Amino acid sequence: MESSHSPEHEPHVGQTRRDFVVLSASAMAGLGAAACIWPFVSSMNPSADVLAMASIEVNLAPIAEGQEIKVMWRGKPVFIRHRTPENIQRAKACPLGDLPDPQEDSARVKEGKEQWLVMVGVCTHLGCVPLGGQSGDYGGWFCPCHGSHYDTAGRIRKGPAPTNLHIPDYAFLSDTMIKIG
Ligand code: FES
Repeated sequence: MESSHSPEHEPHVGQTRRDFVVLSASAMAGLGAAACIWPFVSSMNPSADVLAMASIEVNLAPIAEGQEIKVMWRGKPVFIRHRTPENIQRAKACPLGDLPDPQEDSARVKEGKEQWLVMVGVCTHLGCVPLGGQSGDYGGWFCPCHGSHYDTAGRIRKGPAPTNLHIPDYAFLSDTMIKIG
């Protein structure tokens, strides 16, 4: 009988080693290709959390009249206030001539939904987040950074901010659900 250590097995062992070397080289090439492709794919696609925040849906039902919430959208705060009839009346009563950035109250809300005010909560002066809670001299928002006062429609009334708080793109999906973005 032949011994399992006979020389005729040597080529087989050699072949196996060569296969391993080839396999290893292929695996390395594969890894190299993957490493090159990943940053490319990565830079082509927004990250999952950015995609998730591209638009958000907010349920307004829990926000009682007179209350306000803040949600984050695309990395910025968005104020959503459920305005009281007095808030609305006060905004409508203001003459446009008194406004540094004249805009009707009706242009800042959706038709038939004037109780809901949705605004980007970033001061248009230098980007601070104004205080809510019906603050400031006009019962809206106050930015303590340099003293900008916004009214109950989020319009600048006094202070260095040049424009009204911005209104984001949003739509009502139902009576109590909005989609921002
Ligand atoms: S950043 Fe708001 S007043 Fe300057």
